[in-house]
Amino acid sequence: MQVIVKNTVEEMSRCGAEIVAEVIFSKKNPVLGLATGSTPVKMYQELIKMHKAGKLDFAKVRSFNLDEYAGLAETHDQSYRYFMNFNLFDHVNINKKNTNVPSGLAKDIPAACAEYEKKIVAWGGIDIQVLGIGTNGHIAFNEPLSGKNSRTRKVALTDGTIQDNARFFAKKSDVPTFAVSMGIGTILEARKIILLANGKNKADAIAKTVEGPITHMIPASFIQSHANCILVIDKDAASMLKGKYPSSL
Ligand code: PGA
Repeated sequence: MQVIVKNTVEEMSRCGAEIVAEVIFSKKNPVLGLATGSTPVKMYQELIKMHKAGKLDFAKVRSFNLDEYAGLAETHDQSYRYFMNFNLFDHVNINKKNTNVPSGLAKDIPAACAEYEKKIVAWGGIDIQVLGIGTNGHIAFNEPLSGKNSRTRKVALTDGTIQDNARFFAKKSDVPTFAVSMGIGTILEARKIILLANGKNKADAIAKTVEGPITHMIPASFIQSHANCILVIDKDAASMLKGKYPSSL
């Protein structure tokens, strides 16, 4: 695991965008694993800037998102499909047919999850998986107690996660209580992982992820075992780390 500590969210986002862009440049048919949440928004803006400057072509890019709220239609402004269109896909030359977000409305959720897993494999696997992290150490919606070998499935959100996400909804009771999420096992199969985090509210989860034991109580700690994993975090998120970490690769 490599840890890079940047001074600001802007620097974190530029660094993250460069790492993702490098994968797009180097692969014929790049497959991105994408994340939602407030953390990657500025990184997506950097990728859009590169595209608009003529430096980054999304024509051959394909993508799989980590998760989706159960019960929200794609048209709901808090659905993760809506988020991806709004924050990235509508601003670059990606073919939306090549973008995948788990369905929150599937009638047979286990069958839809198995299909999602099969499609990732059929499309050659994920070249780079972007992750944020929850204040409780979750990655995607893999809450504490998620197993290392978990796969895409329906999951219950913890009260803390519902509280954290209530800021995006009119009221807490509007936040869905279930989601469909890639599993830890699915995430660990990506050829490269980049986890972004900023803000003091992430410092405890980051310290446990980087310097704590691997445990299902902190699902992000499982990425310690990944062979090609980079954390790009700002100094606030790094504030509880005991070690000293570089500011560039
Ligand atoms: P955030 O969420 O980027 O909105 O902080 C991260 C997460 O819960 O994974």
